[in-house]
Amino acid sequence: MNKINILLLFAIAAYLNEVQASSLLNLGAEFHKGRREELRSRLKDSSAALVFSYPERNRSADINYEYHANPDLYYLTGFTEPNSVLVLMKNDLIFNGIRTNEILFIRGSNPEKEMWDGKRLSLKDAPELLKINAIALTQNFEKIETAFLGINKVCITGIPKGLIDKKSDPADLSNLLSKFMILVDSKSLHLDSYQLGKLIRQMREVKTEEEIKIIQKAVNITMEGHKEMARFIKPGISEFQVEAAGEYVFKYLGAEDVAYPSICGTGQNSVILHYHTNRDQSKPQDLILLDMGAQYKGYAADITRTFPVSGKFSAEQKLIYNIVLEAQLSAIHQCKPGKAFMEPHREAQKIIQKGLADLGILQQGEDPSKYFPHGTSHYLGLDVHDPGSYGRLEKGMIITIEPGIYIPYGSQCDPKWWSIGIRIEDDVLITETGHQVLSGPLPKDIEAIEKLMEEKPVYLVDK
Ligand code: GLY
Ligand code: MN
Ligand code: MN
Repeated sequence: MNKINILLLFAIAAYLNEVQASSLLNLGAEFHKGRREELRSRLKDSSAALVFSYPERNRSADINYEYHANPDLYYLTGFTEPNSVLVLMKNDLIFNGIRTNEILFIRGSNPEKEMWDGKRLSLKDAPELLKINAIALTQNFEKIETAFLGINKVCITGIPKGLIDKKSDPADLSNLLSKFMILVDSKSLHLDSYQLGKLIRQMREVKTEEEIKIIQKAVNITMEGHKEMARFIKPGISEFQVEAAGEYVFKYLGAEDVAYPSICGTGQNSVILHYHTNRDQSKPQDLILLDMGAQYKGYAADITRTFPVSGKFSAEQKLIYNIVLEAQLSAIHQCKPGKAFMEPHREAQKIIQKGLADLGILQQGEDPSKYFPHGTSHYLGLDVHDPGSYGRLEKGMIITIEPGIYIPYGSQCDPKWWSIGIRIEDDVLITETGHQVLSGPLPKDIEAIEKLMEEKPVYLVDK
């Protein structure tokens, strides 16, 4: 290595020291510590819970997909690096001479790798930043054996699948899992892969104040994206151009990613529920269904609006739109603590059945699932389809309300209804006495949408 290269390495090392590890995109160490304490309080005596990181996924050749952290691990630590595992114990034990009830194994610093891929959390910085007193390197996982004296039951959320065993990397997830299985066998531990998932699901389905604030921020960013798309749409525009406009605003306003692949379907594509090819060009008479949400600090928004490409709804589109809107408003009205999770869906089904029967699109009493084939709600959080029990609604839950009507080309009804696909989706917080529509300010009645579409773009302009 010549002198210039050495200087360059020093400069990079100094720069990396200044950069915050990308693994700390979190809600604050205290929040995550609180989540661990809550989970520990629900564990049984003499048991340990292990939450493994998700594997890295190869896209092609030597390029991986953008890494997505295991939401459970992020929820409990705020840590988003691969090749790691959190071990949470009900009771204290001694590990590396430290009395603790939690250990996080991380891959640790690696200057050569960090020069390519960015800063990693170091063993030195991790205890203070994560507020976890026992941090060790993944490659030393076997050292846990001596600490595991009093442990008889080990709970996991599942074994990561489809791993690539990088023989050259002693800290990869594949090696970590092998060591874990050796530990389970050698100590004859009872392995439970059901209970922990259930406990974490019960926690994640009710949001804390901190989470509600972050989800509201993801929703605010998403609403701005939807408004800009409405302003930007014009006949002949391509689905991918509208997608780009929305995603530009998401990222411009600080979202780290989309929460799920954006659904931008014009015309016949609007009836495909999870269409995300987004390659077609719009025609003036088309609707465009936009189901797009930003991800902010790991949390998802999930909003759908359906706009007329021309800026004005046709008579047929208006009739169907208003049935979906009425179903959506009535379903939202059902959102209050104590209601069965399915109640908003039953309400939406009832209104859509009647509305379509009144128009002669369905028979009286005919099953509406022919044109409304999905549920009305799911939980929303770190996952767009967040885990939950689907029992009764409770204060602090955030759910979507998203009825739709989709009439494919060739359906058994008057052809004037064909290729109309409409979904209206909002994100709803259950409050003490009822609900709050987090995405409420985003226009959704016909008049407000047509007015919004007359506006000029706000973000997509030369400044
Ligand atoms: N964006 C997916 C869904 O609404 O469930
Ligand atoms: Mn949804
Ligand atoms: Mn959606």
